[in-house]
Amino acid sequence: MTQFPQDFLWGAATSSHQVEGDNTKNDWWAWEKSSALKEVSGSACRHYQLYNQDFDLAKGLNHNAHRLSLEWSRIEPEEGKFSSAELEHYADVLLSLRQRNLKPIVTLHHFTNPLWLARLGGWQNPKCAGYYLRFVNKVVERFKEQAVYWVTINEPSVYIYYSYIIGAWPPQAKSVFKAMRVEQNLSLAHIQAYRLIHRIYKENKLKPPLVSLAQNLQAFVPCSRNLKNRFSVYLRERLFNLRFIEKLIRNKSLDFIGVNYYSRTLVEVKRWGFWNLLLDVCQDNHRPLKKNSLGWDIYPQGLYELLLKLKKHNLPILILENGICTEDDGLRWDFIRLHLESLQRAIHAGVNIKGYIYWSLIDNYEWDKGFGPRFGLVEVDYSTYQRRVRESAKHFAAVCKTGRLD
Ligand code: BGC
Repeated sequence: MTQFPQDFLWGAATSSHQVEGDNTKNDWWAWEKSSALKEVSGSACRHYQLYNQDFDLAKGLNHNAHRLSLEWSRIEPEEGKFSSAELEHYADVLLSLRQRNLKPIVTLHHFTNPLWLARLGGWQNPKCAGYYLRFVNKVVERFKEQAVYWVTINEPSVYIYYSYIIGAWPPQAKSVFKAMRVEQNLSLAHIQAYRLIHRIYKENKLKPPLVSLAQNLQAFVPCSRNLKNRFSVYLRERLFNLRFIEKLIRNKSLDFIGVNYYSRTLVEVKRWGFWNLLLDVCQDNHRPLKKNSLGWDIYPQGLYELLLKLKKHNLPILILENGICTEDDGLRWDFIRLHLESLQRAIHAGVNIKGYIYWSLIDNYEWDKGFGPRFGLVEVDYSTYQRRVRESAKHFAAVCKTGRLD
């Protein structure tokens, strides 16, 4: 089978802090300035100014959907004070998508927090879910007629891992206790936002929205199949891949499963120990695969296997991110093609997949890694902000147009 289903969503994603530029009122901006990072986000891709041009490119590449995030710190720069100018800006952005027949998939939280919230303890604060709901209420009331797809939170487990377990991202905590509290607050925020968004659509007699979150799924593969490694794989799958979404499924608060998939981790546990079981990886690289420019293995089979594991939930699945940073654009197309083949195999095996959103539409600010990694279908020249469509984008465009992978 080479044909994807009718009405399949095809597109690419961005997130506000990574592309807009000058998001001066969030915790990442403050942290970039105060830390030893070699690159700060600065003007990023100037997407805040150039979004029409970027959406023209997406349209020209036959996309029919686009995932973006609304920057909370722009919309609510001070606690409880909403900026009508920024709401107007995002109204224009959503209108621009609609004029190009690009269905918006709107993310409400993509790693960054307003500075005022960070000062109040961020997601550790028990009131955080309430603050988040006030923001969600504001934007969904405003944009309910512009969007059907809502993504409440991007990759809660990645956010918790980097910000509260290994402490690489703001607020750089390293505490299992804090991580558990944040997880609790994030899941509560999602469940309540899910109900709120549905209520708003119902009260306004609109067709029901489709609400989910973006869950990062990592393929965990034991290096040798000893007990320690197999137990560790089981544990990591539960903790990092499944725990969060299964809780939300039990609470009936996912209309579809949003999946972000990039790579695999080869698990080789040195000794029985809590942190070893959670974090040890194989250092030998004795089963080498091609890698992206950050050294992540290219492992399309993992996507297929993970999708089959989700099948039992009987929910539609939308790939909200899958992508590669590389200087080798031929490898980018291979990556996309191989992952689309995995999707086709999963569809063939009965998994209900609704769309594929590549990460990312344009090169952008890769968080603490700076501007080096190039994930874009479209190259950005950071000295002129000019865009150049890559060959891989054109190959992908042909699939978006015909729904066929030839
Ligand atoms: C995130 C993106 C990030 C991408 C590549 C995902 O985890 O949602 O913000 O740029 O991975 O690392």
